[in-house]
Amino acid sequence: MVHAGGSLQRWSAPPDVFSQCPSLSGTISPAMIQMFHVTKAYPGDPPVLVDINLDIEKGEFVFLTGPSGAGKSTLLKLMFLAERASRGQVLLAGRNVARLRESGIPFLRRNIGVVFQDFKLLPTRTVAENVGFTLDVLGTPRDEVRDRSLKMLRRVGLEHKADVSPLKLSGGEQQRVSLARALVNDPALLLADEPTGNLDPALTVEIMDLLTDVNARGTTVVVATHDATLIERYQKRTLRLEKGTMVADERGAKAARLMSQSA
Ligand SMILES: Nc1ncnc2c1ncn2[C@@H]1O[C@H](COP(=O)(O)OP(=O)(O)OP(=O)(O)O)[C@@H](O)[C@H]1O
Ligand SMILES: [Mg+2]
Repeated sequence: MVHAGGSLQRWSAPPDVFSQCPSLSGTISPAMIQMFHVTKAYPGDPPVLVDINLDIEKGEFVFLTGPSGAGKSTLLKLMFLAERASRGQVLLAGRNVARLRESGIPFLRRNIGVVFQDFKLLPTRTVAENVGFTLDVLGTPRDEVRDRSLKMLRRVGLEHKADVSPLKLSGGEQQRVSLARALVNDPALLLADEPTGNLDPALTVEIMDLLTDVNARGTTVVVATHDATLIERYQKRTLRLEKGTMVADERGAKAARLMSQSA
């Protein structure tokens, strides 16, 4: 169970913080993420991503799929500026990230929640402290950090683990803490790398329901997943990568068919 009672608790829609950038005031609302001819290569290796073009609008829910090694995590890293494109342009909320000063990066990142494939929880802090870490860094009062962290933990069914070390949690529990941490700040954009990879089918449904609820409240959601059943069940726009190339961009039933053909 994600929380007692079965129905998801409501929270307020995230502020459209990206569009509050002073430089964007007065412009028509730009897409959340755009890539133009993006290539990513690490020195000495063949390119990991080749000539990627995509456009994800604000408020969309998008699956990113493809075989292991296809470049899903790398594409997400370009979206939260953990990596830079070798060639081409990445725009976040209309801003060319290559032109951002280093000081502008934390501001953009503040609006992005990330669920890492390997969780990246801090072992020396409790579960609740991990969830509240970003709020803490932003100077949120201590009581409010605790309160919001516990609420978020309740939403992923882990309030009872608030004061233990993440080292004492199972893989699926750590994954849910990582999701709670990504969502606690009401991000405008959620990037989730295999967020259900360690969950059983019942919890997978609960977490997907949480993600669709967050999306319905205005957060743009991008989920990298291998899981064909998720894609078939939720009928969302699906981008498919193979060997670093975007080979399909399908919606609804077409996306499900694409998965059953490639399974
Ligand atoms: N820092 C790096 N240096 C060199 N090569 C890298 C680096 N990071 C990723 N790669 C390579 O890029 C390719 C794509 O990796 P990526 O992690 O994006 O794949 P993925 O689609 O997320 O795979 P998985 O489904 O297994 O998570 C892999 O061949 C990987 O070895
Ligand atoms: Mg990956």
